[in-house]
Amino acid sequence: MSRTEDPSPRTGIKPERKGFAWNSENTIDYAQRSTLSLDDGLLKASMDGRRSIRSQGPISVADAAVVLRETFRTTFFGAGDLEGRRRKRLVSAGAIHPVKCLIVTGAGEIIFYNDEDDCFESIAPTAPSEVRSFLSECLEVIPGVNGCFLVLLADTRDSQALYSNYQSLLWRDAGAALQTMALISTTLGLAFCPLGILGQGLVDALLPSGHTAIGVGVAALGSMAP
Ligand SMILES: Cc1cc2nc3c(=O)[nH]c(=O)nc-3n(C[C@H](O)[C@H](O)[C@H](O)COP(=O)(O)O)c2cc1C
Repeated sequence: MSRTEDPSPRTGIKPERKGFAWNSENTIDYAQRSTLSLDDGLLKASMDGRRSIRSQGPISVADAAVVLRETFRTTFFGAGDLEGRRRKRLVSAGAIHPVKCLIVTGAGEIIFYNDEDDCFESIAPTAPSEVRSFLSECLEVIPGVNGCFLVLLADTRDSQALYSNYQSLLWRDAGAALQTMALISTTLGLAFCPLGILGQGLVDALLPSGHTAIGVGVAALGSMAP
């Protein structure tokens, strides 16, 4: 099982505008030639208004739960040959939807959104000290938050069974989940910010040894600070 370490920023390096080294001959504004446009509705407002908000006020578990449910709720379960496949608002490779989500409150409570049964489960960690170190790691990365943290974890079992070279599918599914949560949070007037850490230590503290789940991202979620 390949695991990926937390990325760590390098200092003193500025990204340059590089472009691709292909043979680009001229520019054409194709989008201007189309009659399609995003209407001035909620989707456009959420997409235009989305920002990573690093100063966050408190949020109730109930409000955070709405973000998870609106993101991860399953609307269709496959049967027969499609057993294990499902439909959600999120895109997912092979309709497997391996990415799940936990809420971790500032007090260290852990709540899992069970997308099979559309319910929230309270999870007892086997190593409470790992939960404390997870929270302090998050607060080191983003000190201005007073809400909760969301941990994305991938259940690798089906992806691994159904695909060779399956790992990149998990990362792309996790990105789709992050962006969807960001848009839903914006629409609900909440503050959302992804973190670079992956949450593997926390995942390991919740599951028995030998498990195959991968921490695929963490985000802070709170109310808009006044
Ligand atoms: C995978 C990922 C990891 C991120 N990690 C951090 C982080 O560790 N700390 C932070 O302050 N922002 C983090 N961000 C937020 C980005 O810095 C932010 O999206 C970027 O600055 C653009 O700003 P915007 O989201 O407001 O458009 C992360 C974003 C993503 C997608």
